[in-house]
Amino acid sequence: MSRRTIIAMTKDEWAQKYWSDLTEEPDFQRKKFSKSLTKYHNVLFPEPMTGSRVYVPCCGKTLDMIYLADMGHEVIGVEYAKNAVEAFHEDNSLTFTTEDVKDGPFVLYRTKEKNIKIYQGDVYSMTAEICGQFDAVFDRSSYGAIDPVTRTTYCGVIRSLMKAGGRILMETLYYDTSLACPPPHSVTKEEIVNDFTHFNVSTLEVYDEDKGWWADIVDEYQCTISMLQLK
Ligand SMILES: C[S@@+](CC[C@H](N)C(=O)[O-])C[C@H]1O[C@@H](n2cnc3c(N)ncnc32)[C@H](O)[C@@H]1O
Repeated sequence: MSRRTIIAMTKDEWAQKYWSDLTEEPDFQRKKFSKSLTKYHNVLFPEPMTGSRVYVPCCGKTLDMIYLADMGHEVIGVEYAKNAVEAFHEDNSLTFTTEDVKDGPFVLYRTKEKNIKIYQGDVYSMTAEICGQFDAVFDRSSYGAIDPVTRTTYCGVIRSLMKAGGRILMETLYYDTSLACPPPHSVTKEEIVNDFTHFNVSTLEVYDEDKGWWADIVDEYQCTISMLQLK
């Protein structure tokens, strides 16, 4: 296998590649709630287990937002692709209102039937002034999706949005970067620890992920579930 160049996708490339043709499901789209979330819900929300504010960066149209809202939390997602935000509602027979966010480059989608709001815009532009602060973050393939050279900025934004003692449940993927190229970007525990300097990081679980069409390319394809708590 030859070494491949690591290419990071821009937000417009994400929108074009995965969200321009809604007749095709993106390969990262889960048809069920994420097992990491259902299994570790009580770790992410120790006390109380309902009524928390939870942030879902780069949310796409994940069903996990429905799980979190149905568990009694206030869910705030951010997603750049307008089509993804609208498909989330369409797929789940939900309706919404929209409004431009004052002083912010976002359109706010308010889901009428559930306690979910999605800011359509750039994850790096979010501030606590716009969306408030959070008890918890669910990051499935968001840190692992963004351009690695912007991770410090991403982590700074996430940190600024967290209440004292806030927790992040994070899912990342690891593979040999000499054999394959993103997306997703390969992530190691060391990278998480180095980037999220204000957090205590612990690994909850590591397991072999279904390789899918990567089967011919990589030997290892591991999913890591991490818990990060603001120090
Ligand atoms: C790998 S997907 C993960 C989606 C979701 N977390 C899930 O579990 O299905 C990454 C998502 O990030 C979005 N995205 C990429 N760059 C972004 C940015 N700068 N701001 C907001 N969303 C972005 C993409 O459109 C895509 O929906």
